[in-house]
Amino acid sequence: YESLSVAELAQKLHREPSEIIKKLFMLGVMATINQELDQDAIELICADYGVEVEEEIRIDVTDLEIYFEESEETVEGQTERPPVVTIMGHVDHGKTTLLDSIRNTKVTQGEAGGITQHIGAYQIEEHGKKITFLDTPGHAAFTTMRARGAKVTDLTILVVAADDGVMPQTIEAINHAKAAEVPIIVAVNKMDKPTANPDRVMQELTEHGLVAEDWGGDTIFAPISALKGEGIDHLLEMVLLVAEVGELKANPAIRARGTVIEAQLDRGRGSVATLLVQDGTLHVGDPIVVGNTYGRVRAMINDIGRRVKEAGPSTPVEITGLSDVPQAGDRFVVFEDEKTARQIGESRAGEALQEQRVEKTRVTLDNLFDQM
Ligand code: GTP
Ligand code: MG
Repeated sequence: YESLSVAELAQKLHREPSEIIKKLFMLGVMATINQELDQDAIELICADYGVEVEEEIRIDVTDLEIYFEESEETVEGQTERPPVVTIMGHVDHGKTTLLDSIRNTKVTQGEAGGITQHIGAYQIEEHGKKITFLDTPGHAAFTTMRARGAKVTDLTILVVAADDGVMPQTIEAINHAKAAEVPIIVAVNKMDKPTANPDRVMQELTEHGLVAEDWGGDTIFAPISALKGEGIDHLLEMVLLVAEVGELKANPAIRARGTVIEAQLDRGRGSVATLLVQDGTLHVGDPIVVGNTYGRVRAMINDIGRRVKEAGPSTPVEITGLSDVPQAGDRFVVFEDEKTARQIGESRAGEALQEQRVEKTRVTLDNLFDQM
């Protein structure tokens, strides 16, 4: 239970704050617009308007972000979690080749049958430590996630082709990572090419604030050939090193929360969403709100296509069981019981629909003016 200010209550009742202040005055309560009202005062006013006080009036339960704030309960019992890494860089500099190279050399080892399907994120193990890679184009991950204020990446690998050097999208990637305060490791790629010139890459990146350790800076540069699979181990070791400095932690004992990596409608399975669990552990059967939709986790498939019953921090997992298709970058939160999840899910869906309608009306009016 949280209190409401006069202004917030007025908004919820669709009245002017001055009207609320007047009413409070009549009830013998002197109040200003920003004054916090206690439950009694809220109930008095609501009764006066013939409105029943529901939970929803007191807490804006529809904001999923509040569940991402660390509370004492979530901090106690935290343990180390794997880093979540994205790969960014200019067109054709080798992002996809690097992702494939890491996956092929690391994921398929010891996995009979290998990868049966592709879920937009995967996890590997290096020296007994896990690393999660988001298989979305880094730029998209940063822009959609950032537009929603969601932070999912702990670290970014900036791929720069040694034969091409710093290009516009290299700079764009640096800006994205800096804005999100995500550390950058530079992978100087295509080192197998005779025209490779890593010194030039280092020189050019210096101008953008990425100074190599050899040159007195603190940016890690890892020479690689994504095509030939060379330098990958060293690169992954550097990822683990940077992750260690970041002291990434999560509490596997709490209810899961995280972000949607991708989602689509599947003919046979319905709404299918790839989620990144950022804190807590997700279980089959959990009541869940995902963006503007909700449901119960029906089935979970991991990054190598296996059915799993639970997924801990930093684990990507594909789920079914949602009533609708969420969007990449949407937050998800598991709730104690299905009733709460449904209530919040439905209220969020309703709000989203209303926003859409407002949007549509606006567009129609604009069109009207265009025609005039
Ligand atoms: P976009 O997705 O279009 O932005 O490109 P990308 O960054 O994913 O590059 P991609 O991995 O598709 O590689 C582009 C081309 O460079 C392909 O022909 C790769 O085979 C080649 N390539 C990637 N890495 C290397 C490398 O280490 N050495 C050499 N010689 N070629 C490479
Ligand atoms: Mg690519």
